[in-house]
Amino acid sequence: MAGDVDALFYFIFYASLILMAIVTFTIVYFVIRYRRRGKPGLTSGPTENKALEITWTVIPTILVFIIFAWGFKDYLRLHIVPANSMEVKVTAQQWFWSFQYPDGATNVNELVVPVDKPVKLLMSSKDVIHSFYVPSFRIKQDVLPNRYTIEWFQATDTGSYNLFCAEYCGEKHSSMIGKVKVVTQPEYEEWLQTAQGPSGGQSPAEYGEQLYHSKACVTCHSINGTPGTGPSFLNKFGSMETLEGGEKVLIDENYVRESILKPRAKVVKGFQPVMPTFQGLLNDKQIDAIVAFLKSIGKNPPPEQSQEKGESGSSQSKTSDTTGQTSKNK
Ligand code: CUA
Repeated sequence: MAGDVDALFYFIFYASLILMAIVTFTIVYFVIRYRRRGKPGLTSGPTENKALEITWTVIPTILVFIIFAWGFKDYLRLHIVPANSMEVKVTAQQWFWSFQYPDGATNVNELVVPVDKPVKLLMSSKDVIHSFYVPSFRIKQDVLPNRYTIEWFQATDTGSYNLFCAEYCGEKHSSMIGKVKVVTQPEYEEWLQTAQGPSGGQSPAEYGEQLYHSKACVTCHSINGTPGTGPSFLNKFGSMETLEGGEKVLIDENYVRESILKPRAKVVKGFQPVMPTFQGLLNDKQIDAIVAFLKSIGKNPPPEQSQEKGESGSSQSKTSDTTGQTSKNK
């Protein structure tokens, strides 16, 4: 639809520009032509000019009707979803996007779709109002709690396109950024198969580190020790943490698992209970991988990891490289 939206936009733009030029030119011309010279005798006020009045009423009216008919036609095309669309459920929440595919695959912050295939987005929010905005596709639609909104597109070129939240939704609104990745049909099918598990040869901790970025944990939890919206993950696993109520708790496998699935059950002192649940967004294998990743950067990393101390250091610098790359892409 981008070409159609642009065509209408430029029609309105140039029509406005021409009208503005005519009006401005006439004002300037009259100011100069009829400026006060000497002391003229008073004349009677202007009388009517029917032809002129009809002209400046009829021409703008026709223009406005053209814009209405044209805009309405495009509006309908933007809102009537083709019957052969592939449907993806979009869930917005503070502060990330999640996508649920027809066969059950899920992804966070990256909508992967095949090229030249109409995609219907069935959207809802878990908390406040967000807005799904892909500038390259010229589509933007509010995403509301307690109600579905619908939007569709058909990507004509492969590539990676920015996805923004276009409705102020709280502290991290500006980092609620995702991607729409348009790939060929075979690439899409291949992606669907790997979406649910680690790719070949990855250790659970490496897969967990990948999930830490792709599932947007990185938005609130740093791995360099700096607290963000949530506690940093560095040196956390295996340590004792004080909870909001003053109770002390050991950060172990079960604490991590519970905090992913029921984040508000045991909130660390000094942090707001704002984390959404990842129930349904992460399968058991993925939770295992995140636990393994936290363990690898935890207080007492398991012996097999401490043996590769040098490598664990290089894996951390690899992490900051990835982060640097991500922010460069943004
Ligand atoms: Cu979500 Cu702004």
